[in-house]
Amino acid sequence: MAIDYEKLVAEAYKAQKNAYTPYSHWQVGAALLTEDGVIYHGCNIENASYTPTNCAERTAFFKAVSEGVRGFLAIAIVGNREGQKPGEGDFCAPCGVCRQVMQEFCNPTVFQIILGNGTDHYKVYTLEELLPMGFGPDNLLL
Ligand code: THU
Repeated sequence: MAIDYEKLVAEAYKAQKNAYTPYSHWQVGAALLTEDGVIYHGCNIENASYTPTNCAERTAFFKAVSEGVRGFLAIAIVGNREGQKPGEGDFCAPCGVCRQVMQEFCNPTVFQIILGNGTDHYKVYTLEELLPMGFGPDNLLL
């Protein structure tokens, strides 16, 4: 199935609208595409105690996994400071913890990570490119 990158970035911007960011004012949205063509949305959710904060990417993954979904094709990610318009800032790359969560559920050579900066401006990576030599479930089988 060909992935519609621009649509997925647009869905990430929709997800970003719900970002709860009273502390960092850094707003992230993610749109996670499953093998069945379903899109799970995620935003970052901050906390007064700081460490319970959940990234947008993990929100999307945990929503999907908690519904029983295990097959994923791609995730689009957008992020910018509150008040900035799409495309005004830079690309927002996923943090290391989120890359590790992707490694748990995705084939690193196949799963695609789309970084959007404005709806028609994006870069595409595989998980392997953003997390080389990642440690995943297969390592425990060796
Ligand atoms: N954040 C994400 O949602 N995803 C990332 O991959 C990077 C960081 C959030 C966490 C926090 O709410 C804010 O951005 C600033 O770190």
